[in-house]
Amino acid sequence: MRFDRLFAQRTGNMAASAIREILKVASQPGMISLAGGVPAPESFPLEILRELTARVIDQYPAAAFQYGPTEGFPPLREAIASRLCQAGIDVDGEGVLITSGSQGVLDGLGKVLISEGDEIAVEAPTYLGALQAFNPYCPRYVKLGSDDEGLIPASLERALKEHRLKFVYVVPNFQNPTGKTIPLERRRQIAALIREHDALLVEDDPYSSLRYEGESLPTLKSMAPDHVAYVGSLSKVLAPGLRLGYVAAPEPLAKWLVIAKQGIDLHTSSFNQALAAEYLTGGYLDRHLPKIVEIYKPKLQAMLQALARHFPSECCWSRPEGGMFVWVEGPKGLNMEDVYRRTVARKTAFVPGRFFFVENGEGGETMRLNFTMADEEAIDRAVRIIAEEIEAGMRTCC
Ligand SMILES: Cc1ncc(COP(=O)(O)O)c(C=O)c1O
Repeated sequence: MRFDRLFAQRTGNMAASAIREILKVASQPGMISLAGGVPAPESFPLEILRELTARVIDQYPAAAFQYGPTEGFPPLREAIASRLCQAGIDVDGEGVLITSGSQGVLDGLGKVLISEGDEIAVEAPTYLGALQAFNPYCPRYVKLGSDDEGLIPASLERALKEHRLKFVYVVPNFQNPTGKTIPLERRRQIAALIREHDALLVEDDPYSSLRYEGESLPTLKSMAPDHVAYVGSLSKVLAPGLRLGYVAAPEPLAKWLVIAKQGIDLHTSSFNQALAAEYLTGGYLDRHLPKIVEIYKPKLQAMLQALARHFPSECCWSRPEGGMFVWVEGPKGLNMEDVYRRTVARKTAFVPGRFFFVENGEGGETMRLNFTMADEEAIDRAVRIIAEEIEAGMRTCC
């Protein structure tokens, strides 16, 4: 059978993620991987989940195993709303839609907002999974500038003035891939611009609870409630395999996201939602979060120290106070994919940064390093090996 004549035109826009290939290589036995973006398994609260699993079966013998409302399991919607209120987002359970991971929100947003050729503004670099969710709908991307403090408001202002943007997509806390966080004053400016231009902003925030130092910052949603769809996730603070995300969106958009979700998966797993509801309402998340911070904080410190110890002075890198990633920029002309191939031969993997840019040819000298999976000793060894191969690469190119 010739399948190529069957596929929809949009599949032409759906290139397989190059990162998947890299992650396959990174998971080979014996490899030290700074490539993935996944939580450390030791962060999963297994004992609590064992206990709560039994409780969910006792308490919700029907609802946990039955079809449920598309909007989500009501106790979980309530529990998430109450956490969002604590973070300054004025929302009740009715205003929260539970999705299959926050990736489910991004897919829904693409489906209900993007027609072919529509313009969407994204940071450069940005979260690859968002591009994968939006690409099938064939948008055109408008690139927003960023520096050490993340998205530059002046660049957003220009984009809002010069383009008819469908929406702006931003990851304001410990961004994937850069680890950068937008400071307070910039948030105020961004929120003011979004309000002034009556634009929609998607605030994707899976990492804000993974803060190891410094003060939490207010959400953009709290500053421009009618113009921001706030997207959250339990993947990084509970377990990604449960596939639980959520969105608090302005009402007209929320309505369409529900209709789109009916066609996507009817609803998110009832059992997993009930489990998470018990986890949140029982106060387990608040008690367990400090343990996750305790696991990751020394790993981040180990990575920053290793970078300072081993990396050549021609490289610079982000210094995040949380999240899962550090971003490195090498000198112009350095080919980080060549460096990647050489470090993989030495059983060390990372992700070359060019995959996170919408424009081909950008970010060739950059890389994303993950610090949540490897232990501190392995982090130091891996960073040393990468540094040696960068130096070798610099001798030939720069
Ligand atoms: C910025 C960002 N958004 C969304 C997601 C998707 O997370 P999930 O679907 O597991 O909630 C990720 C996952 O790494 C991410 O980094």
